[in-house]
Amino acid sequence: MADVGVVIVAAGTGSRSGESAELKQFRWIAGKPMLLHSIQLFHERSDVGMVVCVLPRDRAADPPPWIFQCDLDRLLISVGGGDRVDSVRNGLEDLPPDLPFVLVHDAARPLTPASVVEAVLSEVRRGFVTVPALPLHDTIKSVANGDGNKVVAGTLDRSTLVRVQTPQGFPRATLVDAHSRALRDGTVATDDAALCEVMGATVHLVPGSELSMKITTEADFAVAEVLASRDR
Ligand code: CTP
Ligand code: MG
Repeated sequence: MADVGVVIVAAGTGSRSGESAELKQFRWIAGKPMLLHSIQLFHERSDVGMVVCVLPRDRAADPPPWIFQCDLDRLLISVGGGDRVDSVRNGLEDLPPDLPFVLVHDAARPLTPASVVEAVLSEVRRGFVTVPALPLHDTIKSVANGDGNKVVAGTLDRSTLVRVQTPQGFPRATLVDAHSRALRDGTVATDDAALCEVMGATVHLVPGSELSMKITTEADFAVAEVLASRDR
């Protein structure tokens, strides 16, 4: 039985990905439009009852033609907002009510493996907010302003840090509560787990994947293309 609703946020402007006539989330990567990878990843699962794609307002009114090749009975288009958190909230409001678990995914991560979705969902079904994460390899320093220059304020303990990815999974009531509090308090965060953390929710980790990299810069398109071809 379908018990999972998915929100794919694809309403950003891709301002860091360089000059391109096409929006980042609609550009082709590994043989198809970026967003189509994610829609198909979730539509492959029979436990996914609905996928809501959140698009910029003008594209929601006039979606790209390839979107109509998807399973339209399990696809809704929502209109995005100014920040990612607004886009997620809009998508969440449009999910049908009968789905008790929610996954939120960045369209900017087109190569996420099905195994990561499975790992997140099995932990969510145990009742936990869950995020996929990977260890850090670089040394991370905090920065302060000194004499008009940026200076190092300290070095963080890398062993206590992870980099998190999407899809992030939630018992639906927890995510709805987190977003209504964020709206009330004006909280902005770069992921949804952070909104749950401020409410005191425990967030579980499952292993992420290098394939789930977020495409942010122009160089990331080239890296992702290589990763995808190695995986084929
Ligand atoms: N996103 C969104 N609505 C926004 C901002 C971001 O739906 N107002 C989505 C993006 O489309 C992307 C995901 O959130 O799939 C992660 O955001 P990011 O990688 O930062 O993409 P952009 O915000 O589009 O890029 P940039 O920050 O470089 O402008
Ligand atoms: Mg952004």
